[in-house]
Amino acid sequence: MFDIEKARRDTPGCEKVLHFNNAGAALMPTGVRDAVVNHIDLEMMMGGYEAANRVAEPLAQVYTSTAKLLGCAADEVAIVESATNAWVNAFYAIPFKRGDRILTARAEYGANYVAFMQIAKQRGVQIDVIPVDEYGQVSVEALRGMIDERVKLIAITHIPTNGGLVNPAAAIGQVARESNILYLLDACQTIGQMPLNVQEVGCDMLSGTSRKFLRGPRGIGFLYVKRDLIPQLEPVTLDHDAAEWVAPDRYEIRKDARRFEKWESSIANRLGFGAAVDYALEWGLDAIWARVQEIASTLRIRLAEFPSITLQDLGVEKCGIVTFTVEGLASADIKAQLAKRGINVTVSGRGSTLLDMDARGLKEVVRASVHYYNTEAEIERFCEALKAIAV
Ligand SMILES: Cc1ncc(COP(=O)(O)O)c(C=O)c1O
Repeated sequence: MFDIEKARRDTPGCEKVLHFNNAGAALMPTGVRDAVVNHIDLEMMMGGYEAANRVAEPLAQVYTSTAKLLGCAADEVAIVESATNAWVNAFYAIPFKRGDRILTARAEYGANYVAFMQIAKQRGVQIDVIPVDEYGQVSVEALRGMIDERVKLIAITHIPTNGGLVNPAAAIGQVARESNILYLLDACQTIGQMPLNVQEVGCDMLSGTSRKFLRGPRGIGFLYVKRDLIPQLEPVTLDHDAAEWVAPDRYEIRKDARRFEKWESSIANRLGFGAAVDYALEWGLDAIWARVQEIASTLRIRLAEFPSITLQDLGVEKCGIVTFTVEGLASADIKAQLAKRGINVTVSGRGSTLLDMDARGLKEVVRASVHYYNTEAEIERFCEALKAIAV
């Protein structure tokens, strides 16, 4: 049994707000907040560089914990400022040439797709979108049929921002491995919500964030790069920590994934991120995933009872991101009305997943994303609030 009472005791925000915006940024547990604030206090009292020296060991441990979470080694992890930062660092380092193809998902994240289009414009690369299967997932069969010697990269968003879909990351990884094609996985909405092991998925690169289902502070993202691949990827931007300045006319790039970092960073946020990773590992990702699916499924069942509501989640195995539209009501109005009642949801707009939204004739959806600390009683309160706003 998942100890929800403990989860809520550790999460003071639960008393203040009904938080169904975990896919935006989840509520932090106290341990995460303490890790951040204690370090800020240390910086205030002894100086930023001196404080960083004091926490050198726990800081190094953040890489070890992240590696444990992802099933990789600590030298395959870079910690940066956001998931997008992690993703673009990896993507732009790939040596694309004219005629190369990128295969991607219909529900690919907006930031990633903009980067594809820029590289397509600059280098004459072709972007091909893999069709979806009958459940709205990336069709692995269609992917197989699209492979040829021109395919340089398969880049997939595992869990899209606009709904419950979980793309078949491991089956895609198998195709990538068999064809020896680079595989970049956007796991921004995945990590902290469900277990993911990079060896089992077979990805070469993976990006993620601290603030969403991991419940860490904002301003932190992370990148995994498979060890064998690191020497082949020269980051587009370097500093004198990513690359050592060894002679007046020469630099040597680091051999580990930290070549994708810059020297300056928020030590407090890094420590908070580490605390969030350790906290998730303590709960166990299998237990978290089971609880998230349970609570999301209850929410979907309750929402389906409203005649004016259409659930918009695709996929076979659905995650904690529950999206819907309401006949005759704008999503932004629903969000605002719920906010007045102390309930947080958000709106996912067309520009975040344009191809998928257009294919389904959607302009926007209300996104109610749950986490393990949410309760059935909160779902009831949520539904009562929806009734009150004439849904
Ligand atoms: C699927 C997906 N990828 C990437 C991102 C970008 O993450 P960040 O804002 O940390 O750069 C998001 C953010 O919502 C997302 O949902």
